[in-house]
Amino acid sequence: MSLFITLEGPEGSGKTSAIKSVKTELEKLGYEIVMTREPGGTDISEQIRNVILNRSNTKMDPITEALLYAASRRQHLVEKIWPSIKEGKLVICDRYLDSSLAYQGYAREIGVEKILGINEYATEGTFPSLTLLFDVTPEVGLARISANSKREVNRLDLEKISFHKKVRQGYLELAKKYPDRYVIIDASQPQAKVAEDALNVIKERLKK
Ligand code: TMP
Repeated sequence: MSLFITLEGPEGSGKTSAIKSVKTELEKLGYEIVMTREPGGTDISEQIRNVILNRSNTKMDPITEALLYAASRRQHLVEKIWPSIKEGKLVICDRYLDSSLAYQGYAREIGVEKILGINEYATEGTFPSLTLLFDVTPEVGLARISANSKREVNRLDLEKISFHKKVRQGYLELAKKYPDRYVIIDASQPQAKVAEDALNVIKERLKK
């Protein structure tokens, strides 16, 4: 059964760690999973990721940033996501279009409609069937990042707390805008509980 699932959340929500055990559990149940991430997921898209997140690119214009994310997404769809969906696989993508809506649309204040427009063109209207929002306050999320010395700090991590507050608010607005595909996970809980909640939501959706 093919399903396109995306994972979203502010910095330090723990979604990337939580989903590793979710993948293992789903594989035990016999699902063929394609785990991927944005920006990135293919060679070309990872090269675009390096440009976007490079900490020395302080002069990057917000619209350039939005277009680069959309370009990276398009390449990812063409090379990986669309073929995997066609083959009936379960695609789990760590960040996708909603990251652009929350970060560039809300937090950079370009506007959700403009970002939707760019992305509808880039994705030919490919929306996920399920989006898990790992919700956590910026205070908790950013504290987790600074406690995790292994995690690379990128250009967007360096934004002020007010930016991260807008990101979170943006996500909560998006959850209201798209209630059919959004499920909110309380990511302030211990990691094992976050992973358990995420697995249960996905298993429930797979039954439908
Ligand atoms: P991450 O993969 O380590 O979460 O880093 C990606 C960063 O890029 C993160 O700060 C969120 C940001 N981002 C956007 O601003 N817009 C997007 O469309 C995507 C996919 C990510």
